[in-house]
This record gives sequence, structure tokens and C-alpha cells, in this order.
Amino acid sequence: MTFHQASWDEPLIVQRSRPGKLGHRPPRPTDAEIKVAGENLASKVPKGLIRNRPALLPEVSEPEVVRHFTRLSQETYAVDLGIYPLGSCTMKYNPKIAELVVQTHKLEKLHPEQDESTVQGALAILYEISRILSEITGMSKVSLQPAAGAQGELAGVLIIRAFHEAQGDLRNRTEMLIPDSAHGTNPASAAMAGFKVVVIPSNAEGMVDLDALRSAVGPQTAGLMITNPNTLGIFEKNILEISQIVHRAGGLLYYDGANFNAILGKVRPGDMGFDIVHLNIHKTFATPHGGGGPGAGPVGVTKRLERFLPVPLVNFDGETYHFDYDVPDSIGKIRSSYGNIGVLIRAYSYVLSLGFKGLETVAETAILNTNYLLTKLLASGYFDLPYSRMRKHEFVLSAKRLVEKTGVRGVDIAKRILDSGVHSPTIYFPQIVEEAIMVEPPETESLEDLDSLAEAIIAAASESESDPERVRGAPFNTSVSRIDEVRASHPKTIELRWEWSAESRIPQD
Ligand SMILES: Cc1ncc(COP(=O)(O)O)c(C=O)c1O
Repeated sequence: MTFHQASWDEPLIVQRSRPGKLGHRPPRPTDAEIKVAGENLASKVPKGLIRNRPALLPEVSEPEVVRHFTRLSQETYAVDLGIYPLGSCTMKYNPKIAELVVQTHKLEKLHPEQDESTVQGALAILYEISRILSEITGMSKVSLQPAAGAQGELAGVLIIRAFHEAQGDLRNRTEMLIPDSAHGTNPASAAMAGFKVVVIPSNAEGMVDLDALRSAVGPQTAGLMITNPNTLGIFEKNILEISQIVHRAGGLLYYDGANFNAILGKVRPGDMGFDIVHLNIHKTFATPHGGGGPGAGPVGVTKRLERFLPVPLVNFDGETYHFDYDVPDSIGKIRSSYGNIGVLIRAYSYVLSLGFKGLETVAETAILNTNYLLTKLLASGYFDLPYSRMRKHEFVLSAKRLVEKTGVRGVDIAKRILDSGVHSPTIYFPQIVEEAIMVEPPETESLEDLDSLAEAIIAAASESESDPERVRGAPFNTSVSRIDEVRASHPKTIELRWEWSAESRIPQD
């Protein structure tokens, strides 16, 4: 496949601005509306935040706006262009039917301040999706509030905290156990909730080391956060024993649902002994995700923890649907309004379009794709698979041998395959694998897409032997060549603010 990304010398939209140009004329407010707005500004907005000058919005025509953003979109990569096999953070194709459903005028124009009686249909959908999520996770109640997986985690660990506090035991329960293969958000969430993180090492099979777990638990244990299958793509076959060890010590078991698509319809976290579950809606139910959102990370709990869930819950009294703020020991509100409803409705349409049988097929296909691709890449002989076991939804290869032989690193392979029009896998995570290349080919990808990805990776590895310098200089066909990774991940070194002024405009000629 030939691939060349567009490259435009595109100015900022404010630099395209010309006084008096118009793209859209909003309806003129009435004098009464202007008066109310003025009064609100004076009484409700803190003085320091009031700008005593016009908003200085860019003045551009509609075609200029459309062409500006279309040109920018051509300089980037998207899940509508090709595979996005970013292990642990994979992006599935987002079915267009879900977009159609959510963009109907009845749902599109909803306002969070509308009276409940006027949004019964939307509430019914939210209620239904929370029931479906309860059913497939084996939890008794689900709150739809959190706006991402990581926020679901924070809600979950705050619930663990609230539980121990209600037991009068929080003073002792200070430690959160987390396996060394965990996603970085797990220790971050635990620390944000005030827990000390205790890392549990993996055993030779890439699963939780049970002896290490036994010696780490005690009266100080608040809980264990774990994802199953784990980030190596390995199913923790000892999960029932793990659950027993943690529960016997008085701790709670937290399920990070980021990898839930691997077991969808097959086994439920509730049946594995988990007390709390979050789901990454974008990963499991193919909703859009990127640039930090909008996402959804509903959090579900077993019966005894329901009273701590974030509010509001959506309930049905047999006649009407309503928001329920009456949750006695709720950790409170963790996001504005009612959560990212648009994303939840997309997930609802995804589930309904597949049905429960279809959800099982999701898990089966994701696992088939993963093991097909893994087998092809291992057969090429360039990579190794630490912890040799069958994988579920993702796998982590090591490029260590390649580095030793050619000097080409995992990051160089990841950059070189961009030239073939595919997104790179995740690299250098989890940290327990040296020169990690973490691939997650979700169920939405065809055999042809998997073959193209395998060919791109194998071709880059083969080129590392014949022309290592070229691989180290990649990518060549993208709109941006190799960037300074260290600088890019330290936003403080980059000036992102744009102060608009008349002088900011590009010259007419
Ligand atoms: C295992 C795991 N846990 C948690 C998260 C955090 O989820 P989110 O990106 O929705 O905040 C991710 C990211 O996808 C993940 O892979």
C-alpha cells in the first residue's frame, strides 16, 4: 500500500481572520436578554474573570473554516483511515449507526437543566444501559457518572475508601495492592485517593505471584486493583484464589475493565469475586475516544457497596424514570451534569445492534485476531514473546534481540511502520518487558488489515538488518517527521497559549 500523508503550511484560524468576515449570523438577542446577561455577569461571574473587551473571535467565512479543519484532518491519522493497534489504549472502528442514533434531533439538543418529565426517553436509555452493564459485569448497580476509565478508577478507589471509613477501619487500611503489569492510571488513582501503593510482582508466567500477594496482604490492605486479562494479554487463571486472599484479609477487589472486551459475554467480574468494576466504554463498546475525550467510565459495585456510588443514579419507579440523588453515603458527584450521555447512547446502540450473542463474538474475534497476528510476527523470527502463553486481546513482544543485533530499537520500528499507513503499537509498556512492543488488534479489523500490519512490522524489522540508519530516521511519509519525544511529553517546555491581537493576522499579500 502506498501512503503519503498530506502536508499543508496551514496558519492558525486566527491568522486567517479579517475584520467583517462572516460565517454564521447568530440570532440577535432581545434587549431583555441583554439586560439579564449583563446582570448575571455582574452578580455571578467573579470580578477577576471578567474581561472588559470583546471576545475577539476569529472573523472567517464558512468555507474558510471547513477547509481549514479539513486540511488539518488530512495531516493526521484516524481510525476511519486504518488500523489503530495501540496496545492497552486501542481504538476500534466506531460504527456509523451509533452516530446516526445519537445525532437524531431528539437526543442531540438535550440540555442537562431540562425538567425530568421532558427527557423521559433519554432517561430510559440511561437506565437500560446501566442495567445492561450491571448484567454483563455481574454487579448489582452501576453509576454512569465518570467521564473516562481513569475517572472510573478514581471513583472506585474512593468507594473503597468510603467503605473502610464506614467500617471505622480507614486508619488501618492504608495500602492498595497493584500488580507490576498494571496500567499507570491504577497507582495514580490509588495515590489520589490517599492510599500507599504496594506493587505485587508477576511470576514467571506473567501472572500475579501468589506467594508475593500472600505476604503483602494484611490488616493494612484496603484492596487490590487488577485487570483481567492483564496488560500482557494473559488471563489471571488464579483469580478466584486471588479474590479469596484479598477478601480474607478484609480488602476489596477492584476490576479495571479496560480489557473487558476480551471476556465479554464469557465470564463476569462479579463471578470472579470482584466488588467494584469500571468499564472503558470506548474500548469495550467502540465509541469515539481521543484527544482526551469525551469518554465514559461507568463504575459498578456489588450490593453492599451501592450506598457509596457517585450520584446521580438513574432509577425507574415503575412509571417514570428519574435521577436519584438519595444515595446515603455517596462519594458525591464526580462529574458535572449526568456524565457523557452521547457516548453512553452510542454504547447502547452498539450493544443492541450486536445482541448478547454478538457481544460474545466480539471477545472471540478479538482473541482470534490477536493470536493470528502474534503467530505471524513470531514466525518472522525477529521478536520474542516473554511469558510464553496463549494471549487474549493483546500481546507484548520484546525487540531486545533486534536491538542487540542491529541497534534499531522498538521506537524505531514503531516510527517506520507509520510510513505504511498504519498507526504504531504502544511501546515501552508494560515496563516488565524489555523493548516492549504492545499490540492490540481489536475485533473490528479484517484479515487483510491484520496481514498488512504484520507485513509492515516484519518489513521494518527486516530493513533494520539491511539499512538500520533508514529505520532510525523514519517516518518519511507523514506530515510530521520524527519529533523530540522528551520535549513533546513535557508540555511546560512548549508555549501553547495564543494571545490574539489585530497584529496576529497574516499579511494580506
Ligand atoms: C488497563 C488500563 N486501565 C486504565 C486505562 C485508563 O482508561 P482511560 O484512558 O479511559 O482513562 C487504560 C487506558 O486505556 C488501560 O489500558
